[in-house]
Amino acid sequence: MPEAIVNVNGVVSDGDHAVISIFDHGFLYGDGVYETLRTYNRQLFLLDQHLIRLRASASRVSLDIPLSDAALGSRMEETMREVNPNGEVTIRALITRGIGDLTYDPAACPSPSVIVIARPFRPVPAHVLREGVGVIIATVMRNHPRSVDPSIKSNNLLNNVLAMQEAVRQGAHEAILLNHRSELAECSQSNLFGVRDGIVRTPPLAAGLLEGVTRNLIFDVGAELGVPIRAEIMREGDLRELDELFITSTTREIIPVVRVGDQPIGEACPGPITSRLLEGLRARAQAVTRSVST
Ligand code: PDD
Repeated sequence: MPEAIVNVNGVVSDGDHAVISIFDHGFLYGDGVYETLRTYNRQLFLLDQHLIRLRASASRVSLDIPLSDAALGSRMEETMREVNPNGEVTIRALITRGIGDLTYDPAACPSPSVIVIARPFRPVPAHVLREGVGVIIATVMRNHPRSVDPSIKSNNLLNNVLAMQEAVRQGAHEAILLNHRSELAECSQSNLFGVRDGIVRTPPLAAGLLEGVTRNLIFDVGAELGVPIRAEIMREGDLRELDELFITSTTREIIPVVRVGDQPIGEACPGPITSRLLEGLRARAQAVTRSVST
């Protein structure tokens, strides 16, 4: 089974042979946007929402996506066909500024590049869900919204990389980033939720964060299960009061967090509301994708 199949501007190859010009501004400047998707039942889950966010991100950096939604969806499906034929797949779809001279002027790049990377889906290990993970609070701040706005899912990820480097050095699974007002924003690759007194709270979009597709789904799943969820400003000190903490993303669904630095969260084990939401999310993903595939 190939580790990756890659489609670069319509040319398909395995991951070891995929090539892109070093003059592509995606490579030179991180000038581009991306989405990460996954399948359930071999169907791309919430494809429409990922495409909406991809177009919104592209528009924020004045980048034209040269394909229709239908063509982009087909390209993802064609690319994933040869990967893990009986299992699930992760897709990373990137649109970059394209090839051009060494200048920031977008006019130098007449054709954006479209890259689709398809890889076998790697589930979160069972022990991670059973035991939960530790995270740290990074010293690196989330980008100020008037810098590279965190609501743009951009290929320009050095800030996230630096935060994650801190986590790796401290043996942590993820890094929480604070915003310029020292409020909790999100993690390097995931959104953040806390639970106190039966109410789930997550930093508001105004804290400067990526509006996660999974974050939005959690609001729906919470409503369905009768679990109250609200967007609320949270600070580092609020972590002490929490009963549960978890992170969310497309590829990780929900991961319980049981420690921030040295500080245990609640009973330092995955909590009941986190588990209910994860079950609810999975049930929703199964229901949506089964109804498509039958
Ligand atoms: N990461 N915040 C950041 C900074 C992210 O990079 C991501 C996603 C999320 C969660 O978004 P969603 O629920 O739409 O996946 C939040 C993806 C998985 C990635 O970087 O590959």
